[in-house]
Amino acid sequence: MKCAVLTGGGDCPGMNAFVRAVVRTLLNLSPESTVWGVLDGWYGLVHGHFRLLSKRDVSGIVMLGGTILGTMRFPEFETQPELRERAARLLHEQGFDYLFVIGGNGSVKASYALERILRERGWNVRILVAPGSIDNDVCNNLGTSIGFYSALERSLELLSWIRDTASSHRRIYIVRSMGRDSAYLAFYAGIIAGAEYVIRPRENVDFEHLADIAMHRDRDTIFVVSEAYPKSLAEIRQILEQILRQRGVEREIRTVDMSYFQRGGKASVTDILRASWLGYRMVRDALRGAESGFYTAFAIGDERAPIPLELAADDEQTSHLDIPPEIIAMARALR
Ligand code: F6P
Repeated sequence: MKCAVLTGGGDCPGMNAFVRAVVRTLLNLSPESTVWGVLDGWYGLVHGHFRLLSKRDVSGIVMLGGTILGTMRFPEFETQPELRERAARLLHEQGFDYLFVIGGNGSVKASYALERILRERGWNVRILVAPGSIDNDVCNNLGTSIGFYSALERSLELLSWIRDTASSHRRIYIVRSMGRDSAYLAFYAGIIAGAEYVIRPRENVDFEHLADIAMHRDRDTIFVVSEAYPKSLAEIRQILEQILRQRGVEREIRTVDMSYFQRGGKASVTDILRASWLGYRMVRDALRGAESGFYTAFAIGDERAPIPLELAADDEQTSHLDIPPEIIAMARALR
């Protein structure tokens, strides 16, 4: 079998464990097969940038953050149909049987678009996709994307460092979190780090309430802000400063953006195990002739059937961006 492996969208810890699992499983279970790494994601696919991978090429990367294959943002892939046509033709003409993908919702949509072309043309290349994103916005009604738990571990570390200095200085820290349109990363980071409040993307924030919270704290206060919340950190700071001044309260406020730090660093145990499992399982299924599909990420050993790419690409049906009410209730109860 001739296979390719691609990491798409924003990098995330766990992508390397997935690449390693695909390469090792394929070459161990089917030594006559070849596996090619697509360099720089969808951009590299369109431009035919492939690299033959050996088992040795993937040694020592299981916990490494980022992706050894690279991933470049390539929005043109969505807007220019001729690029998708080119990628599909290239996979077909070069004789690939399978493309293994790990990436976020952009990669799921790209995979589905490619699969449609392949099907229409009668070209027999199949695409198997795993969710990889720190945002946890890929089919999150059906599992949790690889990279999410690693980013949470990083966030916990970052927020605990901020807590140290906040506490020393009796300060309020307003901290920006990544997560794109989804509230997940910010909200869960807030829960595990014991943040005093997390502002969700589309929330109508009661800033008087935030001031109340800060006034009841003896030393440190941490407010986490989701990436998609429209006000800047500076604007939030100004609003809070004004309310506190009106109340005659002296409290220093600082702002910090932990975004890109959340995405880097080594993969969590959970993400390594799940990425390794999915990489193994997808290759095993491919060797049995699996059709294109999206593999949900639950625990290692989970054998839930893959879902069609068409369904995986339909955010309305498979994803939600806000936190379920019961989880919000829990966070309030823990405050
Ligand atoms: O999708 C992952 C992510 O890190 C988002 O949280 C963020 O909105 C985006 O990527 C940032 O992308 P870039 O690195 O291209 O600016």
